[in-house]
Amino acid sequence: MGPTDSPYTDLEAIAGLTLEEKASLGSGQSFWRTKAVGEIPGVLVTDGPHGLRKQEEKGDHLGMGGSVPATCFPPAAGLGQTWDLDLVHRVGEALGTECQAEGVAVLLGPGVNIKRSPLGGRNFEYYSEDPLVAGAMGAAWINGVQSQGVGTSLKHYALNNQEDDRMRSSSDVDARPLREVYLRAFERAVRDSRPWTVMCSYNRVNGVLVSQNAFLLAEVLVGEWDYEGLVVSDWGAVADRVEAVRAGLDLQMPADGGLSDAEVVDAVKNGVLDEASVDRAAARVAGLAARATAAARPGTTFDADAHHALAREAAARSIVLLRNEPVGDAPLLPLTGTGSVAVIGEQARTPRYQGGGSSHVNPTRLDVPLEELTGALDGQGVGSVTFAPGYTASMVPDQALVDEAVAAAAAAQTCVLFIGLTDGIESEGYDRTDLQLPADQLALLEAVAAAQPRTVVVLTHGSVVDVAPLFAAVPAVVDGALLGQGGGKAVADVLTGVLNPSGRLTETVPLRLADTPAFLNFPGEHSHVRYGEGLFVGYKWYDARDMEVALPFGFGLSYTTFAHSGLALAAGEGGVTATVTVTNTGQRAGREVVQAYVGLPGSAYQRAVRVLGGFASVDLEPGESREVTVSIEHRDLEVWDERVSRFVLEPGTYAVWTGSSSRDLHTFAEVEVAGETVRLPLDLESTLKEVLADPYAGPRVADALPFARSMEESGNDDDSLGGDMAEMMGAIPVGRLLGFQPSDDPAATKAALVDLLEAANAQH
Ligand code: BGC
Repeated sequence: MGPTDSPYTDLEAIAGLTLEEKASLGSGQSFWRTKAVGEIPGVLVTDGPHGLRKQEEKGDHLGMGGSVPATCFPPAAGLGQTWDLDLVHRVGEALGTECQAEGVAVLLGPGVNIKRSPLGGRNFEYYSEDPLVAGAMGAAWINGVQSQGVGTSLKHYALNNQEDDRMRSSSDVDARPLREVYLRAFERAVRDSRPWTVMCSYNRVNGVLVSQNAFLLAEVLVGEWDYEGLVVSDWGAVADRVEAVRAGLDLQMPADGGLSDAEVVDAVKNGVLDEASVDRAAARVAGLAARATAAARPGTTFDADAHHALAREAAARSIVLLRNEPVGDAPLLPLTGTGSVAVIGEQARTPRYQGGGSSHVNPTRLDVPLEELTGALDGQGVGSVTFAPGYTASMVPDQALVDEAVAAAAAAQTCVLFIGLTDGIESEGYDRTDLQLPADQLALLEAVAAAQPRTVVVLTHGSVVDVAPLFAAVPAVVDGALLGQGGGKAVADVLTGVLNPSGRLTETVPLRLADTPAFLNFPGEHSHVRYGEGLFVGYKWYDARDMEVALPFGFGLSYTTFAHSGLALAAGEGGVTATVTVTNTGQRAGREVVQAYVGLPGSAYQRAVRVLGGFASVDLEPGESREVTVSIEHRDLEVWDERVSRFVLEPGTYAVWTGSSSRDLHTFAEVEVAGETVRLPLDLESTLKEVLADPYAGPRVADALPFARSMEESGNDDDSLGGDMAEMMGAIPVGRLLGFQPSDDPAATKAALVDLLEAANAQH
């Protein structure tokens, strides 16, 4: 693949360079810098995604070394739960501004990989089990960052859905799930936001390392999606740079001391590698440098307080209210006029607000839930707030801490218990093996809940946990996900009712690990993981199998209630518009996330019962009603037809529901979508039923093949074979029916049949 002229490519800059210089542009100068060659400057890249991890000193890609202070926004697991694309865009803008202030040209994010299994160690860095949510969030984030003249790196392309053996494992996937589930979020982000760079993942796909995968890097990304930017490797993802350059990789990171540059030069000299590929890579690196240089705004500063306020806003929107049962005559939350409160749990004092690994950010400030809650409750005139840690981060049981916590809970009128996963449990680099909270915390939960029935749990976690023990023990549970540096204030505001929670889950919470779609195929064996659940990832699996779940995709409670009515659908050029009236039927102002789900009963393709087709949100005062419009785009309804190797919009009567979650559907309507019926050329292997269905061949086939007439005539009336003759014969390829056909001249009969099929094909 040679260079092409595009805004991302600087052919002029490389025109006078030697082969050696061009090859050297394609690998890093250091851990975080590209090389400066001739007039072409080097640029600085840093992790990402939920804040900058700019390292002044020695670099590393595992989050070990320190980094300059930067605003720590909620990681994707939290941010995704906002279902708020404008907010994600604003977070992106703020991140872009911080990059400008730090001289960072490219921020290494977002991660839009699908959460295939809740065990994925890095799920906290990803948005959702659903490709529409992941892709839309990723695109909004990219557009926000890039609006500030800073590049992004859409990662990890592709099918890096686990951490176990991540640098070698092959994700073995069929064409439809590949296209409809795993590539869809990347495709949307590439088409809707044109990231300056795409980062190829470590793993293999169907046996081929992604860094050397011409199908993914050239055919799909460039050929189909018209991607013009630069492809950078994940750090250390390249095994064979020559193969990688040939396949479409432009920049290998980090620096390798020039080793692979020399290999590239040798390969060109030996005729093994086309110099045009080296030119393409070099021109794209030069293009990135030119773009970054032109967009740089030296001297930029950022308002750390304003960004902290934005981090709080994003954290507040990320919180999902999971449970709020009445204690006495009112739900436990919000905590108003509750009297004395015991705050229990080390995580109230030492919050866990991001995950481990390369995304680890050094925050500019940190809201501590204990302090924020104490302040907020004081403001309400609550008598006293006490604190007991209850457990330690080490997960070693400590009965004295439990006893102290139980006493504090019993002495207060209400208890807020902070529990959750610890840093060691979920991290980049390895997966989890179960969904449980630490055993010492579960023991504390039981003891505290027994002592204080008015207990609310605030749950900290970046990936799905088993909520059954929580739901069995306490009347109220707040999902505090991973919320970034503003999470403490956000949690306090939600608990005390200053804010009405409106976040929604972007992942199903199963009843049991054994229920999950990838359970029998995760994390694979001997460096192969088979994506055996196919299309049925996340809620699509539980719906198709009619299984109960603990909490459905899209779920989230509010301090108010909403009703949907009057769904109206309109079919248009690029999709369907769904308009529904939403009413706030409760006593408080609140925000409803309207989710539109779409199905096609009787489809000719294997399909999920329903898929998320679009979403929108609305803020409503008590008693207020508003019309909400949700756009459902055709591209999200299309299926990948393997027979023709492209996406197809199937014609038919589509079913549309709006709801508050994938299992709480309020309205239903149907809409005709024109679409396209794929017609394959007829041949001798076409079945009689297929030939009869053809408008040209159908009425004529009995002339060429009189035997077929008996099927048309007898149909279901002939029960001599004790079955449905039409069905039985209809399934026989017409070429093979020749064998049942009495004929004086079988060759002529066959020729007549072939002529008929060809004539039919010529009609289309
Ligand atoms: C991670 C990437 C990260 C890179 C640089 C890798 O280990 O997978 O997400 O951007 O390191 O730190």
